Amino acid sequence: MKKVEIDKNKIPNHVAVIMDGNGRWAKKKGLSREFGHKAGRKAVKNIIEACIELGIKNLTLYAFSTENWKRPKLEIDFLMELLLLSLKNELKNLNKNDIKFTTIGTLEKLPRKICDYLIKVTNETKNNKSLTLTLALSYGARSEIIDVVKEISDKVKNNIISSKKIDESVINDHLYTRFLPDVDLLIRTSGEKRISNFLLWQIAYSELYFSKKLWPDFKKKDLYKAIINYQSRERRFGKISEQINN
Ligand code: IPE
Ligand code: IPE
Ligand code: MG
Repeated sequence: MKKVEIDKNKIPNHVAVIMDGNGRWAKKKGLSREFGHKAGRKAVKNIIEACIELGIKNLTLYAFSTENWKRPKLEIDFLMELLLLSLKNELKNLNKNDIKFTTIGTLEKLPRKICDYLIKVTNETKNNKSLTLTLALSYGARSEIIDVVKEISDKVKNNIISSKKIDESVINDHLYTRFLPDVDLLIRTSGEKRISNFLLWQIAYSELYFSKKLWPDFKKKDLYKAIINYQSRERRFGKISEQINN
């Protein structure tokens, strides 16, 4: 699959990726899981670069789930240090490439120094326009929905909003992703076919694409393949084909 086969007029506006398979990648090579996470970082850089080249405006990466807190402490500590190191190394590049960095998730659960650095990177890239890069960290879609319910019910109680007025757009405006459009294309690597508590509301009408590649092996050409596949689909949103084509 080559880049030239991509239809420039049908580029997905929002691509989300469940970056899975770092541990298995390392195991296959007889290495510890940490090597897999390190190698995964390079894949992240490649994919961001490809998104910029293709003109994709929003990229959301699932980096750490609420359930990942159940992993061994040593692995969690390693992932947190790797995240901090990456943020420190990449801040300059984010600005150079006009990338706006944002996060979704319960950041309060992250170590203080990481939380502070995430806020710094978010602030220092907030005026960038080419690509909105969102990292889902300590993210779980069920927690997100619980937070939405709490926030809206408080507003109802305080007469800020009437319960009769609650519709899809009200929910959208209270999600962590309120600043993002719906996901057009959701990619999961490593051959697993599940959502693992990622963006449940936002993927209601996403096209799903599963790649067998382990995340550290996922290259630009794999993203091209996913996009070409996405472009071959007819997104009907409940209508019939004739309505879409007229
Ligand atoms: C994805 O790779 C990265 C995180 C979830 C942090 P995994 O660490 O889940 O790798 P596998 O699934 O064990 O191969
Ligand atoms: C999902 O991967 C979370 C991330 C990629 C950050 P997991 O490896 O944690 O998912 P499960 O547990 O296999 O479903
Ligand atoms: Mg996994």
